[in-house]
Amino acid sequence: MFARGYPVASLAAHTTRRALPGLGSARAYASTPPRGPVRRVLRPIYVAGAAALAAGFTLYSFDSRAGVHRYVITPLMRYFLDAEQAHAWAVEAAKWGLVPRDGKPDDDALRVTLWGRELSNPIGLAAGFDKHAECIDSMFSLGFGTVEVGSVTPEPQPGNPKPRVFRLAEDGAIINRYGFNSQGHQAVLEHLRMRKRHHRAYGKLNAYRSFHDGRLLGINLGKNKTSPEDTGDDFVLGVQRLGHMADYLVVNVSSPNTPGLRGMQRKDVLYNLLKEVKQARDALDEPRPPLLVKIAPDLSDGELEDIAAVVYDCQLDGIIVANTTIQRPSTLKSDPVLARESGGLSGPPVRPMTLHCLREMYRLTGGTVPLIACGGVQSGKDALDYARAGATTIQLYTGMVYEGPGIVRRIKDEIADELHGKRWMDVIGEDVRSASPPPSPPSL
Ligand SMILES: Cc1cc2nc3c(=O)[nH]c(=O)nc-3n(C[C@H](O)[C@H](O)[C@H](O)COP(=O)(O)O)c2cc1C
Repeated sequence: MFARGYPVASLAAHTTRRALPGLGSARAYASTPPRGPVRRVLRPIYVAGAAALAAGFTLYSFDSRAGVHRYVITPLMRYFLDAEQAHAWAVEAAKWGLVPRDGKPDDDALRVTLWGRELSNPIGLAAGFDKHAECIDSMFSLGFGTVEVGSVTPEPQPGNPKPRVFRLAEDGAIINRYGFNSQGHQAVLEHLRMRKRHHRAYGKLNAYRSFHDGRLLGINLGKNKTSPEDTGDDFVLGVQRLGHMADYLVVNVSSPNTPGLRGMQRKDVLYNLLKEVKQARDALDEPRPPLLVKIAPDLSDGELEDIAAVVYDCQLDGIIVANTTIQRPSTLKSDPVLARESGGLSGPPVRPMTLHCLREMYRLTGGTVPLIACGGVQSGKDALDYARAGATTIQLYTGMVYEGPGIVRRIKDEIADELHGKRWMDVIGEDVRSASPPPSPPSL
């Protein structure tokens, strides 16, 4: 007789050998049921259970609403990685598509018309996260209505020495002095071309350069540190080289980490710059991307008035209000040593400044120029406050650092709830309009 092909004698010898170092006697061992058949039945059940669990967890974690992102992955990344490492890892994961998806369709109340195009929602990703245009589609899959890449400089440059990004966790804020670390126009153009080839291969080219219906891709243009001050050449090059890949372009004259850049917000300098850049934009083939300027939240009311006049005169298509601030509000709760790090502060502490600039800009432009609000948005209420102060759409970055990718869906749901049957478009500028009549259009 053979059991599983082994002679019984051999099996007995094996049993005896196994019994000796164990519980004592071979009889005790022999009285326990044979484990082979039980294992054979249980193993596939274990394997199937583990596979089902893994599949379930994967499906769950690929839903942007899953709490695991907000309560587990994001805090773990903050605990184990410094701010710049966490940023690099997040971009790397997104490059490989390892990000959750917002599978829920956008509520109709969130639709917004911008530059004659209808967007499915007004929430955008601000510049600075995807600096080199490496993970655009992953960002759209989080549910953003607009994604802005950059800032991109003409030549590659490394930016400032590390460390250059700091979390002010108690304030939900960040200080960064990246200093336009950029792979340069050529590399970004190559990334955008590769992406276009990919979308073409899948037959997904459409009227949007985002290649997603109802969503826009913005390219934010910066300036090399070594370029001469007060000249617009770098921005003109950006328009010429990258303009045909963008649904809109942004002239960034407000980053605090490039010496002399913010000085380009001065009336006469800005006028010459924007005229020159606008000419370059007008020379592009149709459809020409709308051209915007991004301003700082630290401007005085007089400076805002000057900028409104310049924007109006140059017939720009919009203003992003605003970049990070060089101020350190007295409300900051984080370690003062950290708060003294030089660089631009972002997150909730900039909200009051940004809100003030936005209201003023809406009043000054009489609501005729689309305004994109950016600074410390963490909730649907923050977004609606900006809309009521005159924002056509909003952008965020720091909120996603602290909350993770689910913030986009949460904010969209909160807006839809808080609109109480109204539409986003209905509330734009309503606070400012009710407070004061629109002034006559500004002029230089
Ligand atoms: C780490 C970091 C890098 C940034 N880099 C850029 C940039 O390259 N260009 C730019 O225009 N704004 C940049 N910003 C500013 C953001 O686009 C945004 O204007 C600002 O952070 C305020 O929004 P938030 O409070 O939602 O982050 C950066 C912000 C952060 C936090």
